[in-house]
Amino acid sequence: MKATLITGASGGIGEALANKLAIRKHNLVLVARNTEKLAILCQQLSKQFGIEAHYIAADLSKPEAAELIFTETQKRNLEIETLINNAGIGSGGEFSELPLKGELDMLQLNNASFVAMTHFFLPQMQKRKSGTIINVASMAAFMPVPYMAVYAASKVFVRSFTEAITEECKPHNIHVMLLCPGLTKTNFNQAAGIENEKGKALTEGANLQTPEEVADEALKGLDQKKHVVISGVSNRMAAKMTALFPNAMLAKRMAASYRRKMSV
Ligand SMILES: NC(=O)c1ccc[n+]([C@@H]2O[C@H](COP(=O)([O-])OP(=O)(O)OC[C@H]3O[C@@H](n4cnc5c(N)ncnc54)[C@H](OP(=O)(O)O)[C@@H]3O)[C@@H](O)[C@H]2O)c1
Repeated sequence: MKATLITGASGGIGEALANKLAIRKHNLVLVARNTEKLAILCQQLSKQFGIEAHYIAADLSKPEAAELIFTETQKRNLEIETLINNAGIGSGGEFSELPLKGELDMLQLNNASFVAMTHFFLPQMQKRKSGTIINVASMAAFMPVPYMAVYAASKVFVRSFTEAITEECKPHNIHVMLLCPGLTKTNFNQAAGIENEKGKALTEGANLQTPEEVADEALKGLDQKKHVVISGVSNRMAAKMTALFPNAMLAKRMAASYRRKMSV
């Protein structure tokens, strides 16, 4: 059975994408850690939209997770036509004070497992000469972000890797798209442990989108065969503005603003 696999589908942007794709009659393979949420969502979507929805519970902060997911799809005869690498986590605060394990687990999830997922599923798409890959980065992919240093660097990686494989995939008729959301009303800040003063200092003044708005813009961009979608008008303007200034200047301003708000 042909299907779309979405990582981080138990909530937020991943869940919104699952809903919108179910409406478009995509069969789905939903991946995250929360088995209960995944099971309920699969049941709901298959009943409401008459699709087949599978789930695979996996922790992508573990190095072996991507291979386990791939093997499971093989066992179930699921042909992944569209791969959406969405699962991700953030962190915030002064780098030296953040627990190293959390930062390294984040890199495993946001980068290493993301690369592994792509590496496992891409050859099948190449063989079929068709497929779609959507990689979820962030506005943080456009600049260094002091006090969110590792998260922002992980998203720069997602952007650079995605832009590179976009070209490698073209001769194989595989469409690759980078999705850069700005601040979105999801569980992200809570999961990152920054639903507090730190989070406010890092995000104050930014325009929030809903995950449904982000998913709608992503799918519209995909329909238009775009390779990069920055969701939200103000985020698109911000991306253009940041390109005009040196990274060092942007980082200096952001660090000063954070320190002022946190009085440090
Ligand atoms: N929200 C924002 O402001 C924002 C802005 C820019 C970019 N983004 C990016 O958008 C993507 C989705 O984030 P979101 O805002 O929708 O956040 P979210 O509501 O926290 O959702 C994150 C999803 O990833 C899953 N996940 C987290 N850790 C995982 C792990 N170790 N293994 C497998 N799955 C895991 C979570 O499910 P379980 O907990 O069940 O595992 C959940 O389904 C991320 O890549 C994020 O960096 C978000």
